[in-house]
Amino acid sequence: MRIDPDLDSYAEEGVLKAREIKSGISWMGSIDWERRMFDELIPLPDGTSYNAYLVRGSEKTALIDTADPAKSAALMAQLDEVDHLDYLIIQHVEQDHSGSAPLILEKYPNVQVISSPKAKPMIADHLGIPEDRIRAVEDGETLSLGNWTFEFIHAPWVHWPETMLTYLREEKVLFTCDLFGSHLATDKLFSGDGSHVCESAKRYYAEIMMPFSSLIKGHLTKLEPFDIDVIAPSHGPVHDEPSWILEAYHHWVHDEPKNLVVIPYTSMHGSTALMVDHLIEALSDRGVHVHSFHMSKTDLGEYAIQLVDASTVVFATPTVLVGPHPSIVLAAYLTAALRPKLKYAAVIGSYGWAGKAAEKTMDLCGTLKAEWMEPIFTKGLPSQETYKELDKLADEIAARHKGLQSGE
Ligand code: FEO
Repeated sequence: MRIDPDLDSYAEEGVLKAREIKSGISWMGSIDWERRMFDELIPLPDGTSYNAYLVRGSEKTALIDTADPAKSAALMAQLDEVDHLDYLIIQHVEQDHSGSAPLILEKYPNVQVISSPKAKPMIADHLGIPEDRIRAVEDGETLSLGNWTFEFIHAPWVHWPETMLTYLREEKVLFTCDLFGSHLATDKLFSGDGSHVCESAKRYYAEIMMPFSSLIKGHLTKLEPFDIDVIAPSHGPVHDEPSWILEAYHHWVHDEPKNLVVIPYTSMHGSTALMVDHLIEALSDRGVHVHSFHMSKTDLGEYAIQLVDASTVVFATPTVLVGPHPSIVLAAYLTAALRPKLKYAAVIGSYGWAGKAAEKTMDLCGTLKAEWMEPIFTKGLPSQETYKELDKLADEIAARHKGLQSGE
């Protein structure tokens, strides 16, 4: 479904009017059906949304988060009906959520900005909002709206160091900004049982949250005492049945990796591709599940999703100027940066006359805490000896994967 960016069309279609998620609590913001890249790095095959939430208490009114600056017009049109705003809560300074804040301050000159202490100088740096407009709130601090009370929960690194969550006690609504979000453009306000959102949420976890999984474990524990009816993230649908997303996060951060090998590869003249084909068959024959990704063509998000569950990565690269192919340089760098639960790693590939592609690939994965297996490289086309070495690698991987949960 494509929505004309013209504001009159928004109003006519009614899709982007504020929508109530509970009495007195409304979704606002924008659904970005056409965005296909985030941070010029992360593919968005299903678009995204920038959710803000208007909370009207008996005495005070607050807006939680805003919208990406490219979509400010939609949010400001929704706010036409809101005469007065007491608080603007900035849970996270990244511009896709805070970028419309300067317009909010312009429209409501007396609004007070609420943020974590770490966010306060960042808001000044990134948005040009003077610090004297901002009230910093401590972890556990509360803010009254009259009949309702916000409790602020500091949750650093989901996904910047300054992030916090906001819990509306009486209504049991937890506002989480990036955490528990999904890059998904849909006209469905709620995720329900999660069936139409789970894949997008897992992709989002893999791309955005996985590097911080050890901290997320702590955040999930911290949230356990809270009675939560609704989770309202700032990307994707609202979780009106939040148990599925809480359980999914629990699995993603806590579960042991599975019987799954991922093979990021590329091939220039076919030698490395022959090795990859042989290794896939050898692993499959030994009961090991495999996903291979041609890194010059693949959607990096699909690769990241498989890294959530994989036990082993095998980089497969031809040699270019004595090192790995640039697409494998990217794969190695990203794999290390995403900090998956991988336990084992290897490099295979080919060269024309000489090279150090294996050593250089391993160097690029410097922070990856995995046991490296012996590299296998062939000069030119793989020989029978090369195939025997790949069979031995498959034996070693299968032995290490014994007893792991299925990776299918
Ligand atoms: Fe959706 Fe970290 O911004």
